[in-house]
Amino acid sequence: MSRVLTSIGRHGLIQLAAALGAWFLIAPALQPLAWAVVQGLVAAALASLFRQRSGSRLAHGLFVPAVMYCYQLALPAWGYLLALLLTFAIGRNAWLERVPFYRSSRLVADRLAEALPEQARLLEAGCGDARLALRLAARRPDIQIAALETAWAAWGLAWLRWCLAGRPANVHIACRSFWHEPLAGYDAVYAFLSPQPMPRLWQKFVVEGRPGCLLLSNTFTIPGVEPERTLALDGPLQKRLLIWRHPHGTR
Ligand SMILES: C[S@@+](CC[C@H](N)C(=O)[O-])C[C@H]1O[C@@H](n2cnc3c(N)ncnc32)[C@H](O)[C@@H]1O
Repeated sequence: MSRVLTSIGRHGLIQLAAALGAWFLIAPALQPLAWAVVQGLVAAALASLFRQRSGSRLAHGLFVPAVMYCYQLALPAWGYLLALLLTFAIGRNAWLERVPFYRSSRLVADRLAEALPEQARLLEAGCGDARLALRLAARRPDIQIAALETAWAAWGLAWLRWCLAGRPANVHIACRSFWHEPLAGYDAVYAFLSPQPMPRLWQKFVVEGRPGCLLLSNTFTIPGVEPERTLALDGPLQKRLLIWRHPHGTR
């Protein structure tokens, strides 16, 4: 939680400094749109100075101009509340778990379908909208997939997709945290998260996993632990599927 607060504080300070900096040049009460554009430029420059990622620089640059634009549209107050709730409902884990919502590519489903043993019971740790789980289940009807998600809107989308796919019996979608899920009942765990939770996930896998079970991670490594296998992916961001076997497992 303290990490989240530090991050909110850093972003807030960038925005505030940019607002004050722009105020030196343009009076916001006289020329609100021009002030907002300058504020955005200063915020993006400050974000670069503080070595923020490109997505974060863009968000800093657009935040106040977008607020000003919406203000001019005179949207009702509940519209903002709704937008905030929707953002939290889909992206809460970007704040709480340092894991944003993005999806595995089509090739990942193919690679997983090749790599998973017959009749495997798979835990998908953070399933997003379950696109991957449903693709994989269609390719490998012999495996059982438990797809867990805690962001309510993502889970709602996952459930909707599952219904639209004809409620396949080998996919079980649930709204709960994979950190509370005992791993003893699974043959494999698939994760596409971020660098942040990987050491903790490895600890959980080592402590709770059964001998021989697999941990498969899209792109993100475990510091200091070499994977048993690496399969190439084709994306600029999704480069490799890394596969570890439980350290007490048989090869
Ligand atoms: C990068 S997305 C990957 C989605 C999907 N697995 C895929 O590969 O297409 C990671 C997802 O994990 C979810 N998540 C993060 N921490 C979680 C937790 N502790 N329990 C359940 N889901 C979590 C996020 O909300 C997000 O939807």
